[in-house]
Amino acid sequence: MAYRIGMIGLGTMGRNLLLNMADHGFAVAGYDKDQTKIDLLESEGKGLNVKGFASLQDFIKSLELPRVLILLVPAGKIVDSVIEELIPVLQKGDIIIDGGNSHFKDTTTRVNYLQPKGLHFFGMGISGGEEGARRGPSMMPGGDFEAYKYVQPVLEAIAAKVDGEPCVTYIGPGASGHFVKMVHNGIEYALMQLIADTYEILKKGFGYDNNSLHQLFSDWNDGKLQSYLLSITADIFNFKEPGSDHWLVDFIRDEAQAKGTGKWTSQVAMDIELPVPTIDIAVGMRDLSKYKLLRTNIAALYKGTGPAPGDGDKEEFVMKLEDAFYFSMIIIYSQGMQLLARGSAVYEFKLQPDQIAKIWRGGCIIRAKFLELIHGAYQKDSALPHLIFDSEIKSIINESLLSARTVAAQCVMAGISVPAYTSTLSYFDALRSERMPSNLIQAQRDYFGAHTYQLIGKEGIFHTEWNAVKE
Ligand code: 6PG
Repeated sequence: MAYRIGMIGLGTMGRNLLLNMADHGFAVAGYDKDQTKIDLLESEGKGLNVKGFASLQDFIKSLELPRVLILLVPAGKIVDSVIEELIPVLQKGDIIIDGGNSHFKDTTTRVNYLQPKGLHFFGMGISGGEEGARRGPSMMPGGDFEAYKYVQPVLEAIAAKVDGEPCVTYIGPGASGHFVKMVHNGIEYALMQLIADTYEILKKGFGYDNNSLHQLFSDWNDGKLQSYLLSITADIFNFKEPGSDHWLVDFIRDEAQAKGTGKWTSQVAMDIELPVPTIDIAVGMRDLSKYKLLRTNIAALYKGTGPAPGDGDKEEFVMKLEDAFYFSMIIIYSQGMQLLARGSAVYEFKLQPDQIAKIWRGGCIIRAKFLELIHGAYQKDSALPHLIFDSEIKSIINESLLSARTVAAQCVMAGISVPAYTSTLSYFDALRSERMPSNLIQAQRDYFGAHTYQLIGKEGIFHTEWNAVKE
């Protein structure tokens, strides 16, 4: 029996993805050093055309030519050591797909390393968690187009579907697939922070209990804000530990962890000088959350709050909050789309923003009703300089802007930290400033460091002895 696809790494993601392929009629094989994972694969895949191997040689021999190997192992050094193990047993034309959350720059290095050996290597972002892998993820494959064509039928079969269309497409050359997945995760971080801010407002500003939080997030999820992240948030506020009477969420430490993809998004965005302030602050807030003792001590020093948001008029305020959330959500996605465009130009990825928005509509963590509008906007104009130029999106912004301002201002006065709401608003206000105060920054730089400045209506660079002027 020759297997169409081989999976290396039979952890939950690898196993589920393999079972998903088998569900769709593909004969597939998996390899792992851990026998218990092989046993799990075979028991969960009973009746399906799936086989587990503990011997790399036997596994490799069992695969159809050219071999297609998907790696689902932790990002970093392990990917390189697996590649080294594979090189001697593979032959020219074989395809290695890294399905993990690898840094796209590592993927570029690996593509360049394997190309002269005749091996196709491509990075494929996979989103959707365990459930997505099993039932239909969103996938972002980038690299050699011929290699993609070879696996396209399998990927399209197992992907999530929206209106019958698979949530997978060829992203572009090189490491573009992992770049796009990184930006996806950056957006994910910012949206999660926006939801966390909202929780903070409702809990601290209005004393919402978990029942009311569950109800509100469920209601929002039935409307324009419909999204996977809101739906799971509603579920979280409805979860009591089996056999107990307490809400699990209340017993979880307020210290957020991170595997690093959000940080990479901010780092890369800074390297290529494209601002994504809401992603930056989302990364920063996770970091701040880890300083528990410091926060506890400072909390004891600076007590007290301002007036309740909305002067305590809950209903009115919560209606505005829904619009403010929509506004911030639009700005978050637009920061991500800007980063895609800038990254595409810098790294020559040839990204198609409408196609990326299309495959994010289903299967992935940031899927949301709003992605339909993003998709539509870039379909109308693939060179849109910024998402907020789109006429439909412009109307939504104009309708929600006052609410966004009210919510941010009143939370600031109440002393409630809402960095996602305030950063989206400040970003937007700076964007709509024809003249920013950056002339002053230039003057300051020149004053203390003779860094020069440029003048309006005059070519060239200038320097002034500012001290002399003062005297
Ligand atoms: C996805 C997720 C997935 C993973 C994140 C978690 O798209 O399915 O983004 O890739 O859950 O890496 O990231 P953090 O540990 O950094 O929060």
